[in-house]
Amino acid sequence: MNILLFGPPGAGKGTQSALLVERKRMKHISTGDLFRAAIKNQTRLGLEARKYMDKGQLVPDSITIGMVEEVFMTLNGQSFILDGFPRNVAQGEALENLLKGHDLTIDKALFLEVPIDQLMGRLTGRRVCTACGATYHVTASPPKKEGVCDKCGGSVIQRADDKEDVIRTRLMAYEESTKPLKDYYKSANKLVVINGLGATEEVYGQIEKQLL
Ligand code: AP5
Repeated sequence: MNILLFGPPGAGKGTQSALLVERKRMKHISTGDLFRAAIKNQTRLGLEARKYMDKGQLVPDSITIGMVEEVFMTLNGQSFILDGFPRNVAQGEALENLLKGHDLTIDKALFLEVPIDQLMGRLTGRRVCTACGATYHVTASPPKKEGVCDKCGGSVIQRADDKEDVIRTRLMAYEESTKPLKDYYKSANKLVVINGLGATEEVYGQIEKQLL
């Protein structure tokens, strides 16, 4: 089964995807992670994407869609989770074409619902490992040793776009561009709303039920 995980910034998409990768051996396709890797490697795509990401704006569709297609070419039949793509209805339509072209389908679009007033605290407190990408939170789930990843010993830092002013712009981009995808996937009979407010394992339990 292939699924799409979408929702506002900080809803827990990356956290839940990491569990699905570990427990269900699904492939995680995160456009945010792909852009961050390109920035780290200082590729042309990374330098271009950074101009938008640092301000909290969406990277243009022309760049993003081509990047996703490259990943589709490497799938070899593995079930996947799309996280952070599509981000607007135009990307949703482009995804349909990409899927058809690669003889793939998305079975369910899981919307991770978390009230906007909960997101700022989750995002300003988030810390990530620069080596393996593990996600922490300064109060809810800190690493055992400050600044050091429990899983790989890498450096744990704050993401450049997890500053309050940038988060505000990301939340606006979500309201304007990404939220309309709820209706898009409802019309396609693929929408499933997941309550993202409980503990991580409770949220995972709801997602796991959808994979049966
Ligand atoms: P991206 O990396 O996709 O960021 P995002 O959508 O803003 O989502 P986040 O990664 O911030 O949050 P998340 O939902 O994964 O939450 P997490 O699990 O980490 O995109 C970044 C940028 O890239 C965009 O702004 C844009 O510029 C660009 N971009 C990416 N894709 C694009 C596209 N398709 N088109 C154009 N541009 C694109 O959790 C957050 C925190 O909450 C953590 O600290 C975690 O520990 C905590 N937490 C998680 N679950 C729970 C829980 N159940 N209870 C309490 N705390 C929890």
